[in-house]
Amino acid sequence: MSLFNWSDKFKIGIDSIDLQHQKLVEILNELHEAMLTEKTELIMGDTLNKMVTYTQEHFAFEEGLLRQAKYPELDTHKKAHEAFVAKATALSSRFSEKKQTLNVETWDFLKNWLKNHMLGEDKKYVAHLKSQGQ
Ligand SMILES: [Fe+2]
Ligand SMILES: [Fe+2]
Repeated sequence: MSLFNWSDKFKIGIDSIDLQHQKLVEILNELHEAMLTEKTELIMGDTLNKMVTYTQEHFAFEEGLLRQAKYPELDTHKKAHEAFVAKATALSSRFSEKKQTLNVETWDFLKNWLKNHMLGEDKKYVAHLKSQGQ
């Protein structure tokens, strides 16, 4: 388990999206910090909620751009987003109901999903968006 280090390889070359991805990584690292320093459950719960909320905002923004650009894979992309939001929301509720602790596995799941999504699905739409003037 290590921090999520942002690097240029995560950049997709569309500034608005890159800034949001960077912010998501920051929030994930905040969660890591809260977990490692055994912050109170309240702080961890708040950080988890912040992550879920920001993720939803980012996904909505991204899907908006893809819709405008008539991205042919929008539905598949949206489904991937929805699946993640469902998992992250469930995690956050289980945490607030004290049925789930925040641990290495949880954090790694969030980190790996985001990492793979940015490097995989998100990079796939770049050429199309750019061809549509983004
Ligand atoms: Fe995405
Ligand atoms: Fe994204």
